[in-house]
Amino acid sequence: MTGSYGLDQYVRDLRTITAEETDPVKITERVAPLAKKFAQAPGWLRPEHWECDPAQGFGVHLLHEEPNHDLAVFVLSWLPNRGTTPHNHKTWAVVVGMEGQEQEVNWNRLDDGSKPGYAELKRSGEQVMTAGDVARCYPEHIHSVWNVGSGVSMSLHTYGRHINYTGRSEFDPQHKIEKPYVIKVADEEPQQAQARA
Ligand SMILES: [Fe+2]
Repeated sequence: MTGSYGLDQYVRDLRTITAEETDPVKITERVAPLAKKFAQAPGWLRPEHWECDPAQGFGVHLLHEEPNHDLAVFVLSWLPNRGTTPHNHKTWAVVVGMEGQEQEVNWNRLDDGSKPGYAELKRSGEQVMTAGDVARCYPEHIHSVWNVGSGVSMSLHTYGRHINYTGRSEFDPQHKIEKPYVIKVADEEPQQAQARA
């Protein structure tokens, strides 16, 4: 073996890290360099990972999740000038830029979250991610993502739990609305990494 860092090894490392750490700061600190290593490893990217969902604006390609939906790894492919609403994740996240230019806008929540369906957000900063850049998110962190390049952009997303199973929210800052956020996943039959005892 030439030592290319594949999905099976990445998932084994995710299991080890999350067995040893519970703090999202420490987990993402350890996951970040491995996510970058996997994102840059040759050979695993397939043509369908480039496919975007025109209705949603981006394609969500599931590479792995555990049977209980923990440790979810996705490739996201974004159409130009499309992106997401502001959202949280309710789990930790590590994102690695693979192709193109994705603008990440961060938002601060100003209200205390006690009023159902209501949220007051303030834009707090932004950065543009390109290939090799790594971003770490914590469960209550709110951001939005937009493809600001001229072609399809791609990024590798690793979450502590599949984001359709965390009870997370999307936000409309203008109308001060919070509502459940579920995204359409293209590959409903993931290639499960081999579970090893
Ligand atoms: Fe996100």
